Parts: sequence; structure tokens; C-alpha cells
Amino acid sequence: MVEHLLAIDDVGEDLEKILRWAIEFKRAWKNGDDVAQNFFPLDTLSIGSIYEKPSTRTRVSFEVGINRLGGYPLTLLKNDIQLGKSESVADTANVLSRFLDGITYRCFAHADVSELAENSDVPVINALSDKHHPCQAAADLMTIMEIFDDTEDLKISWVGDGNNVLHDLMLACAMLGIDIHYAVPKGYEPDEEVVQRTKDLAQKNGSKVVVTNDPIEAVKDAHVVYSDAFVSMGEENMKDKANDFDGFQVNEELVGHMDDDWKFMHCLPAHRGDEVTDWVMDHEQSIVFDQAENRMWAQMSLLSFLINPAAWDAMAEFMQIE
Ligand code: CP
Ligand code: NVA
Repeated sequence: MVEHLLAIDDVGEDLEKILRWAIEFKRAWKNGDDVAQNFFPLDTLSIGSIYEKPSTRTRVSFEVGINRLGGYPLTLLKNDIQLGKSESVADTANVLSRFLDGITYRCFAHADVSELAENSDVPVINALSDKHHPCQAAADLMTIMEIFDDTEDLKISWVGDGNNVLHDLMLACAMLGIDIHYAVPKGYEPDEEVVQRTKDLAQKNGSKVVVTNDPIEAVKDAHVVYSDAFVSMGEENMKDKANDFDGFQVNEELVGHMDDDWKFMHCLPAHRGDEVTDWVMDHEQSIVFDQAENRMWAQMSLLSFLINPAAWDAMAEFMQIE
């Protein structure tokens, strides 16, 4: 059966290993290690990336990451292909599977990436839908694991909308047994089915999932605060939405309630002056650009894991990842 990545919990108990692999591979590659620099698990393989929405990080990190793994990246922008005009998602999946060895897809409706996966004979990776952003969560948890040696007593907090980025962040935290506290305004709660999946994982892994409408309560003594746009792509017609987020800006006063060694995270692009101030974004404890870089390393691990698992295993053994 072909394995797909539609939400971060699709990788199940392998998440921690996938992220450790990414951390060790990044280190080895940057140290000039020959084995890492000559690791080409996608040699002769082609990976297509479909975008219905704009992207900076996802597009560049996939193109460069696929290239570094020896593969050929094709970027397929919505205006250049038949999808959404004269061709269905299912037919597109059937056609692309005949040419490609993997597909990434950034779409509006999550049902579309699910349909693509159902009809694809090659692995499909969700590159952001209205419900999930698993590649972001992989990079985020990789960044957290790089910075904090011990994640057992960490408190991660989210302040903002109950959106796609929160969904996979909370799932990933629960998969790794890390406490997540999120503050959302009334009416902007995350999807109930995703919350239930998160709670089940948290219970299994001994961590907490705490919801509040009060940003101060969410960030109290937290080690990390995470924020994202109040208005996501595809919601541009919800003009007044941002007005409901009064008090949800991450600023100097809010981080004053956190652990002294607080870190600020954001998936980017950030809307400076809205969900976060310049003071926080540009602070030395802001780790937003590490997250952005780690998109590539985390995706390189995921691509290899899904498309050439034998090569991923061999590299894991070489890097002594248990
Ligand atoms: N964080 C993220 O997915 O960024 P892009 O929209 O630039 O890809
Ligand atoms: N929640 C945002 C994330 C952008 C990377 C959106 O979906 O637009």
C-alpha cells in the first residue's frame, strides 16, 4: 500500500525518528560529511509539486531539498495545469502517477488532497490544505528538538486562530508527549475531530492539551509561544475576522508572562504589527528563521522515508538513529 502524508499523525510512531534523522542529517551535511552529501535516494526519480495557493518556503524548500536528494523537482502552478479547469483531481492523480514518483499538493479544500491520495499510485504529501500543514509541524518539532535537549517538561503555547497550522502542531506535540496550551477567541476553535485525535494521542503519550480563550493563561510560564496569521489564505473575503483577535497579539507584554528563556515561533509569512510585533519577531529569542530553514531538512527526511524507505533506513543506521 502506498503511504501518504496528509496530516502529521499519518507517520504514527515514526515521527520522532524522522525528526532525529533530519537533525542528524542536517548536521552531517553542514559538516561536509561525504556520506550525507552523496546521499541520493531520489536519483532518477521525479517529484511534482502542485500549488493552488502562493508559497515561498514550501516551494523553495521542496525544490532545493528534492534536488539535494538527487531527484528532479517539477513545480506545477494552478494556472499552468488542467486541474480545476477541465480535469478532476482523480484524473489528475491517475495521470501524474504514470510519470512521477511522488506528488506534493498545496490546495484549498483538504478533501482535494485526500482525493488525490486515494487515486495516486505514488506517495502524496500535503503541502498545506485548509485543515492540515504536516510539513510545517515536522519542521517545527524538529526545531524544538534541536533547541531543547529534554522535551519532557516543555510547555508549548499557541495564541491565535484555531487553524491548519495549529492542527498539526497540536497533533505533533501530543505524538511526542509534549504539553500544548492554546488560546483562541470564542468561535475560532480548532476542528473538533482533530482535537479528539490530539487528546487520544496525548493520553497515550502522557501529555496535556489545554484550551482557553485567555492568551495570558496560555503563555503563563510557557517555553514557546507560536502565532500565525489571523486570516489564512482562502479567507480573504472574511474582512472583519481580524477584529475578533483583540488581545491575541504576541508582544513584549505577553512574552513577559513566559519562562525567561521563552522562544517565539511562527510558520511565516508574519504580518508584523498584527499577530506579532517587530520587537518579538526580531528578538534574539525568536526562532522563526530556524523553523523556515528546517522545512527543507524535515521534508528531506519525509521524502526519503516515504519514497525510498530502504535508503532512509540505511542512512538512519549510518547516523545511529535508534
Ligand atoms: N510556512 C509556509 O508554508 O510558508 P509558505 O506559504 O511561504 O510556503
Ligand atoms: N494558516 C496559514 C498558514 C500559512 C503558511 C494559511 O493557511 O494561510
